[in-house]
Amino acid sequence: MARLRLAVFVSGSGSNLQAIIDCCRDPACPAEVVVVVSNRAGVYALERAAAAGVPALVVEHRGFMNRGEHEREILRRLEPYRPQLVVLAGYMRVVTPVLLEACRDHRRGLPGVVNIHPADTRAYQGAHGYEFALGMLPEHPRRLEQTWITVHFVDAGVDTGPIIAQAPVPVLPGDDLDTLKQRGLAVEHRLYPEVIRLLAEGRVELKGKQVFVDGKPAGLAGDARTGGAK
Ligand code: GRF
Repeated sequence: MARLRLAVFVSGSGSNLQAIIDCCRDPACPAEVVVVVSNRAGVYALERAAAAGVPALVVEHRGFMNRGEHEREILRRLEPYRPQLVVLAGYMRVVTPVLLEACRDHRRGLPGVVNIHPADTRAYQGAHGYEFALGMLPEHPRRLEQTWITVHFVDAGVDTGPIIAQAPVPVLPGDDLDTLKQRGLAVEHRLYPEVIRLLAEGRVELKGKQVFVDGKPAGLAGDARTGGAK
């Protein structure tokens, strides 16, 4: 079976990109990273792409009239790679309907862009998800006992799209930002490739805003009760 062609969008370190690349190295993986897109030159994610032999496009956002124009240029340069799914992995731009509509998977009736967020998107949207869990944000001073890594379809809002899978990360009493991020990223690196596999295997459906995996409402990773990603 043909592998699902991924375009991974990055802006920084690219540790999730690395996890996805590593997973796709397995010939049994039903997906492949065909191109990496960065809106910033010189970021470490680009070195990771080069080391893996994956082509990368740098399309800096400065100089474009608006986000939509930036995305039109990305789409134009993506064409030769024929991506089937856009995977946002630490991409620090809010995407617009220009990208969302161009990438929509009409055949499967699914959005064509996914994202990973280091918090429960129902509780917190935007950057600084780990700071949120630690109660470091002035508007959210409460420290949580656990946070939820969330992989979701992207819609026109910020971290508001339908949730595909979530996995818990405990917040331990001695945690600071570094230790929590380290533990959380390890979970991110497992969850994102799992979800990509589910999508590539055609096991994900969307009815309204509810995602179904293997016909069951999606939710917690490995949680039999919710039928989430295993
Ligand atoms: C991750 O924490 C991800 O959840 C968030 O941005 C961070 C990206 O990290 N959206 P990396 O660039 O993949 O290392």
